[in-house]
Amino acid sequence: MGLLLPIILAFLAAVIGGLYLLGAFRQRRHGEPPLDRGPIPWLGHVFEFRRNTLKFLQRMKGKHGDVFTIQLGGYYTTFLQDPDSFGSMVKESREKLDFRKFAVNLVRRVFGYSAIFEEHKILHDASSKHLKGDGLEVMTQSMMGNLQNLMLHNLGSSADQRAWIEEGLFQYCYNIVFRAGYLSLYGNEPHKSDGGEEKAKEKDRAESEALYGEFRKYDALFPNLAYGVLTPRKRWEVERLMGYFWNRLSVKEMKNKDNISRWIWDIQQGKEELGIKESMVTRYMFVLLWASQGNTGPSSFWLLFYLMKNPEALAAVKEEVAEVLKEFGQEVRPGGPLIDLTREMLMKTPVLDSAVEETLRLTAAPLLTRAVLQDMTLKMADGRQYAIRQGDRLSVFPYIAIHIDPEIHPDPHTFKYDRFLNPDGSKKTDFYKAGKKVKYYNMPWGAGVSMCPGRFFATNELKQFVFLMLVYFEFELKNPDEEIPEIDYRRWGFGSMQPDRDVQFRYRLRY
Ligand code: HEM
Repeated sequence: MGLLLPIILAFLAAVIGGLYLLGAFRQRRHGEPPLDRGPIPWLGHVFEFRRNTLKFLQRMKGKHGDVFTIQLGGYYTTFLQDPDSFGSMVKESREKLDFRKFAVNLVRRVFGYSAIFEEHKILHDASSKHLKGDGLEVMTQSMMGNLQNLMLHNLGSSADQRAWIEEGLFQYCYNIVFRAGYLSLYGNEPHKSDGGEEKAKEKDRAESEALYGEFRKYDALFPNLAYGVLTPRKRWEVERLMGYFWNRLSVKEMKNKDNISRWIWDIQQGKEELGIKESMVTRYMFVLLWASQGNTGPSSFWLLFYLMKNPEALAAVKEEVAEVLKEFGQEVRPGGPLIDLTREMLMKTPVLDSAVEETLRLTAAPLLTRAVLQDMTLKMADGRQYAIRQGDRLSVFPYIAIHIDPEIHPDPHTFKYDRFLNPDGSKKTDFYKAGKKVKYYNMPWGAGVSMCPGRFFATNELKQFVFLMLVYFEFELKNPDEEIPEIDYRRWGFGSMQPDRDVQFRYRLRY
């Protein structure tokens, strides 16, 4: 008994100390947001959060209001849900709120890439040069060529090419947009190789198809990987897939390609100049493949789907496309040259722009998170102030706070292709909540320092794809009464949403 008591006391002290370290005893201090630690020490609410982020955050908002702190997998995260106050997070100094720390951890866990501090500037500089302005012109042209290769390579080759093809719409859109985007960024097979241009194009088609197949396998495992819940078999599969991509996207392989985008090229060079090992640069190429190709394909599906479900929207976009072609003196004729859709033409499509923005409002749901580096005060637009602790995280989920807020966007679950159009046809940017103009009225690309640098290119990709579909193909849903698929709930927070099932459609070349 003499020995038992100290052992029991030591055990209790260890348990209490452990629980303390796990944050189990954290109490809300004066001036802090409401605190909800959740049912399980350390893990907190993580299971409910993962099961359906949207439902969970809506429940928390109903319980605590528009600011609350919850425990999630070892971190205390404060959610800010008042769009008027988003500026407090977006514009806060990097000394207090840092997005990199959070992103670096995620990228290490999910892609095996260890980032160093200085390198974010390389991405920033390359994106400013090549994903905007004149650089974007080059990228857009390249995308056009690759879309034509993938979508139109058998145009007019024989009469039976005009037979209807039936396929899953999600599979079709993701496949084409992913492959064309990949080829535009990472380069083409050189024409000088055996067999000349036609053979090189054929190789591009075959190689990008194989890469897409493997990407989709990784994509399916992504939510488990991001949350760190993988069975040993799945872990093994993830490692195999990573090995595959590191091979295929290796710096050495890419040096054999033509037309590598300047964006990818400058990033590679910049990293090499910083002394980052080639094997790490290669890993980063996979991170960029993920960031650049994981969202646009799913978005192209939703865009085409909503257009097909809304004949009025489809007719309005078709009319606009026809007008633009006419204005630029182009015409699609059997046996004639392929249309050359320039960036200038893409800047004259306000109706399609509005349809794209509406699609992203309904189907892009990023979770924006910052690490809190110092104790700070969160200042709300209505004057409230909250103390936030160093070491916590601060997040916004614009989907609930903005995208489906009926005050900002009336009838928020309905696709309205002209929601972002003024009556005079110009872009609508005035949206209101409680009589006050809302600055952040749609946030598919995030905001502030980590705002998506590929947003202009992505928008052009979506528009180019739809443009070509409308001009060269007839297409329709197999079942005109098809219901809108549910969203795959495991993916909330990662950007563009995916449907929980595919929908069948049919298409055929017009010429
Ligand atoms: C519909 C398509 C797309 C959507 C909805 C989307 C959305 C986003 C969002 C929300 C973020 C910010 C995440 C955060 O703040 O935590 C982001 C980051 C990023 N996106 Fe996109 N994106 C798309 C397409 C693209 C494309 C085509 C590219 C490249 C050509 C690209 C490159 C990137 C990169 C490199 C980052 C990381 C930025 C950084 O670390 O500063 N994205 N994207």
